[in-house]
Amino acid sequence: MAIRDIHILGSPVLRHRAEEIETVDDEVRALVEDLFDTMAAASGVGLAANQIGVARRVAVINAEGQTFAMINPRIVEADGRDSTEEGCLSIPDAFAEVARPQRIVLEALNEDGEPIRMDATALVARAVQHELDHLDGVLFIDHLSPLKRQLLVSRWKKDHRNEPLTRTPRLEEPEETA
Ligand code: NI
Repeated sequence: MAIRDIHILGSPVLRHRAEEIETVDDEVRALVEDLFDTMAAASGVGLAANQIGVARRVAVINAEGQTFAMINPRIVEADGRDSTEEGCLSIPDAFAEVARPQRIVLEALNEDGEPIRMDATALVARAVQHELDHLDGVLFIDHLSPLKRQLLVSRWKKDHRNEPLTRTPRLEEPEETA
């Protein structure tokens, strides 16, 4: 169990498509523990393995009182539409409105290797989708129009130039980032 450094925009692992987990073993459970510890240290609502430098399909959520790990997660149903401001622990200080389905049904394995199926709405649904994107190498900025994305990224790069590609989580992160 450990708090791990979080990879920041520009770190290549954030753009890798994470690999499926073949067997939920102790190594995977240790990764889940590290994700929970790091998410808590950063006050995040979700965290994907890519964000701690591990391109494997594992992520954790802590939103609206629901705390769970998801291994090899898949969204099997999605409906509705909801646009809300979103942020990411890997793109500190950047926020933008992102439209996503309002309700989803998630299938995954838990840390015991057992299948879970969950109906999620609102912030939980949003956090799950945001983390699944991470496992595919996708960031929330990729959902913006090209112009908005370009503005956000150029401003962000200006504010964060010469910063390292990883950073230690801080408890003072804005809430509800993932
Ligand atoms: Ni994120």
